[in-house]
Amino acid sequence: MRLSCSVNGTPREVDDVWEGESLLYVLRERMGLPGSKNACEQGECGSCTVYLDDVPVCACLVAAGQAQGREVGTVEGLAPAGELHPVQEAFLEAGAVQCGFCTPGLLVATDDLVARTRAEGRKPADAEIREALAGNLCRCTGYEKILDAVRLAADRMAGDAR
Ligand code: FES
Ligand code: FES
Repeated sequence: MRLSCSVNGTPREVDDVWEGESLLYVLRERMGLPGSKNACEQGECGSCTVYLDDVPVCACLVAAGQAQGREVGTVEGLAPAGELHPVQEAFLEAGAVQCGFCTPGLLVATDDLVARTRAEGRKPADAEIREALAGNLCRCTGYEKILDAVRLAADRMAGDAR
């Protein structure tokens, strides 16, 4: 099939896609967007998290055909101008990145959480952060630095911290 969809705001078309291959495979191997990571390919780890029509999903569980005509947002789209997104800055500054394999998925999940709570004029509570990131596994950090990073990102984006 020919897959036509929008990726990070840009219309993309790819030919010879098998409908059953994963959106993650299409992004990484056919579109040259390797930011989303393939760690488990079973929907268990969250390292492949992308937006599909503004909803975070595991790209390894989305069949390519399901993305037809839809909007896909990847971690590459968080910083289109080449500057770090506030969530990326917060992860770096909080020391929440070690091997980095989980990081792209965590960045997308955090961006979604902070955007949702900002739209409600508030910052996420710790319980909300834990719930929002429950599907994103990290083998390195022990999660405390990740929680610090999400709090820092939420503060920054609310204008409360430098
Ligand atoms: S690679 Fe998709 S959830 Fe692990
Ligand atoms: S930093 Fe290595 S898996 Fe999270």
